[in-house]
Amino acid sequence: MAHSIILGIESSCDETAAAVVTGDRRVLAHRLAGQEAAHRPYGGVVPEIAARAHVEALEPLIVGALADAGLRLGQVDAVAATAGPGLIGGVMVGLVMGKALAHAASKPLVAVNHLEGHALSPRLSDPDLQFPYLLLLVSGGHCQLLLVEGVGRYKRLATTIDDAAGEAFDKTAKSLGLGFPGGPAVERAAALGDPKAVPLPRPLKGSAEPHFSFAGLKSAVVRAVGRYSPEDLAASFQAAVVDCLIDRTRRALHRADGATALVVAGGVAANGAVRGAMQALAAEHGLRFVAPPLWLCTDNAAMIGWAGAERFAAGLTDPLDVAARPRWPLDPSAEAVRGAGVKA
Ligand code: KG4
Ligand code: ZN
Repeated sequence: MAHSIILGIESSCDETAAAVVTGDRRVLAHRLAGQEAAHRPYGGVVPEIAARAHVEALEPLIVGALADAGLRLGQVDAVAATAGPGLIGGVMVGLVMGKALAHAASKPLVAVNHLEGHALSPRLSDPDLQFPYLLLLVSGGHCQLLLVEGVGRYKRLATTIDDAAGEAFDKTAKSLGLGFPGGPAVERAAALGDPKAVPLPRPLKGSAEPHFSFAGLKSAVVRAVGRYSPEDLAASFQAAVVDCLIDRTRRALHRADGATALVVAGGVAANGAVRGAMQALAAEHGLRFVAPPLWLCTDNAAMIGWAGAERFAAGLTDPLDVAARPRWPLDPSAEAVRGAGVKA
């Protein structure tokens, strides 16, 4: 059978994106429109502004991606759109567009969980990555350790009890006056600073359950602002985050029976210090280390198209009345954990 061709659509946060991906891992096209400039004056993503920006950007991106791939809509085998979790206004824009295109072209719709897009993205870049694998999923909205057992099969081993790792990067950037988006800015400043200069806490380090917490670290940075250089603060903050991520992942490895690889994905996986430390941890345990290329770590539509291709191959398509889900855990059986503002 010929390999499937999937149109992917992403609009759950502040990137609007369209891509054309094949079942044999070819990215025929991927286009992306960021909204940084629109949100920068507010120092964070404003949902209403994001939704309007998605409306304006999406159609030309899709038309452009199909043109880049040299295809007409009728030549794709399915349309995959993010159906959650995320900002509901943005998710609706992309999902409704996906439904309309699927209906117009009489092609199946695949409603993709954005987190599944991140979770399967390493299999797009690495054809040898087999299930099961231990995944550290670190993004702006989520910080989880998942045993990825197969398409649609995730066992959540840990989550954050307060902030996500990317959120901590963004808030630290804000308090250091480094601007928005914060992750890359903190990484650049950290390269010029001393990671041992500022004593900062490592919340939950050493605790029995492999959960995460970053709120206390973020507050400690706020208290230290003005007493140290922004570069030293950024470097010390980044070192503390990496320490926590590695300690928690090491703990989870004991519960990741049969894992063939240690994998990191999501926006924070673009961070060089995070990637380096995860690679060392994998080596320590004799495991393969897999991380997608940087462009595939931060939000994009190729990962949605790829998750769509994996689901399509498994016969998992969705009816056109499928609902958008602002909250949508990958592992519905995972228990809620105690803590302020727990993320799904
Ligand atoms: O996966 P993503 O693009 O969107 C979500 O699904 O949340 O992740 C965005 C997050 C932001 O918090 C951003 O600051 C962070 O990823 N990020 C980074 C880096 N690049 C992006 N954090 C640390 N270092 C980076 N180089
Ligand atoms: Zn994301």
